[in-house]
Amino acid sequence: MEKFSVCIAGGGSRYTPGIINMLVSQQDRFPLERLVLFDCESERQAKVARYARILFDEYYPGCEIVETCDIDSAFEGVDFVFLQIRAGRMKMREKDEKIAIAHGCVGQETCGPGGFAYALRSVPAVCEITRAVRRQSPDAWILNYTNPDAIVAEAMRQVFPGDDRIICICDMPIGLTEIFEYLLDPEGNTKLDPRYFGLNHFGWFEHLYDQDGRDRIDEVREIIATMDPIQPGMLGLDEDWAFTYNFMQTQVRDLPGYIPNNYLQYYLYPKAMLAHQDPTYTRANMVMDGDERETFEMLDRVAELGRIRGTEFEAEASNLDGHGEYIVNLALALAYGTGDDFILMTVNDGIIPNLSPDMVVEVPCRVGADGVRPYRQAPAPTFQKGLMENQHAYERLTVEACLEGSYVKALQALTLNRCVNDLPTARALLDDYRVANEGWWPELR
Ligand code: G6P
Ligand code: MN
Repeated sequence: MEKFSVCIAGGGSRYTPGIINMLVSQQDRFPLERLVLFDCESERQAKVARYARILFDEYYPGCEIVETCDIDSAFEGVDFVFLQIRAGRMKMREKDEKIAIAHGCVGQETCGPGGFAYALRSVPAVCEITRAVRRQSPDAWILNYTNPDAIVAEAMRQVFPGDDRIICICDMPIGLTEIFEYLLDPEGNTKLDPRYFGLNHFGWFEHLYDQDGRDRIDEVREIIATMDPIQPGMLGLDEDWAFTYNFMQTQVRDLPGYIPNNYLQYYLYPKAMLAHQDPTYTRANMVMDGDERETFEMLDRVAELGRIRGTEFEAEASNLDGHGEYIVNLALALAYGTGDDFILMTVNDGIIPNLSPDMVVEVPCRVGADGVRPYRQAPAPTFQKGLMENQHAYERLTVEACLEGSYVKALQALTLNRCVNDLPTARALLDDYRVANEGWWPELR
C-alpha cells in the first residue's frame, strides 16, 4: 500500500493534536511515511511535536515526524498539506471581536468586521504558504480550512487561478448534519445525505435525505422549532455553541423552508447577537481560558509522563476529534478516489445557474482521485440570492482591498457587510483595525 507524506501547516494549533490522533487512528486506511509539522512559532509547535513523538512511538511505528519553521523546506515531497493557520493567534482574534463591539457591531471571528480584520491578516499568510507549497510540491493537495475560509477561498481563486488541487473546506455543514442526525435519532442509526448551498458560513440546508431516500428536513425543522434548550455539555457543545444551536429555534421559526447554517445568525440578527455579547469577555477569551489552555495542559502532562498508553490520556488519544475527522476523510477520498460526497467550496461556474460564475460557493461535491466535482444546484431563490450576492461583493472587495492595498475597497467592503451597513461606522472600524493590525495588514492607501 502506498504511504503518504502530510504536512500540517499550523503545527502549533490547538486543533493539531486532534488531527494527529485522527491520523494515528486511521493508519490502516491512510498510512503515512512522514508527518511534517510547520509553524512560524517554534515554541508552541514544539509542544505539539513532543506529544506527537510520544504518541507515534507507542501507536504509529514507522512514521517519521519532522518539525520545522522553515517555509522553504517544509513542503518538500509532500502529498497533502493541511492548511489551518491563525495569523495573529487568539490575541488578535480578541482584538477583532472587541473593536467590532466597541463600534456597536457584532464581534465575531469570521463574520462581520472581525472577520474582515482577520481576512487582511490571513490572506497574505495563506498566499505565502501556498506559493511555498507550489514551489516545493507542485502536485500536493492543499486542504485549506484557514479562516475566514470564504474570503481565503476567494483569494485562492484570484491568486492561484485554475489550481484545482487547492480545496477549501469547513466542518460546519458536517457538524450540523451530525446534530440533525442526533435530533432525529439519538440512538445514532439515522444517516443523512444533506443538500446544501451557499457561501461559507453563509448557507442553507435544502433537503436532508435519510438512508431510505426520504427527505427529513421538515421533521428536523419541527424538532428544532419545539425542542427543549440544548444544555451546555450536551453533544460536546460548550455554553456558547449551545446558545448558537438553541438560537436555530428562532431562525427556523422565523422563516419557512430551509434550515440555515447557524452562522447566519450574525447577519440576520445582528442586534440580538450584539446584545448577547460581553464586550470585555469575548469568544477569544473563552477559547484562551478554555479549550486552548486545556489542550496545552494536556500536552504538558503527557510530556511529564512520557507516555500515553495506560494513562488517563489513552482514551483522549483515540478520541476522534471532529476537526481532524473531516479533513482526514477528505484526504482519504482524494488519495483513493472513493467518490464520496463532501460539502466543499468551489468556483460556481454555473453550478447555481442564477449566480455569478466566478463566485466561490459551498455545495455538495463528489470527490474522486482527480479532485472535486460539484453537483448542479437549483437556481437560488430571491432572498438567498440577494443575500449571497451582497455577501460575495463584500468578500470580493475584501480580497481586492488586501491584494491591491486599497483603502477605498476596504471601506466599500465593510460598508457592504450586513453587520456594519453604515459608511461612517465602516470608516471608524477601519481606522481602529489598521492601528491594531500594524505589522499584520498590508498597507492600505
Ligand atoms: C467552527 C467553524 C470554524 C470556526 C470554529 C470556531 O468549527 O466551522 O470555522 O473557526 O467553529 O470555534 P471556536 O471554538 O474557536 O470559537
Ligand atoms: Mn468554518
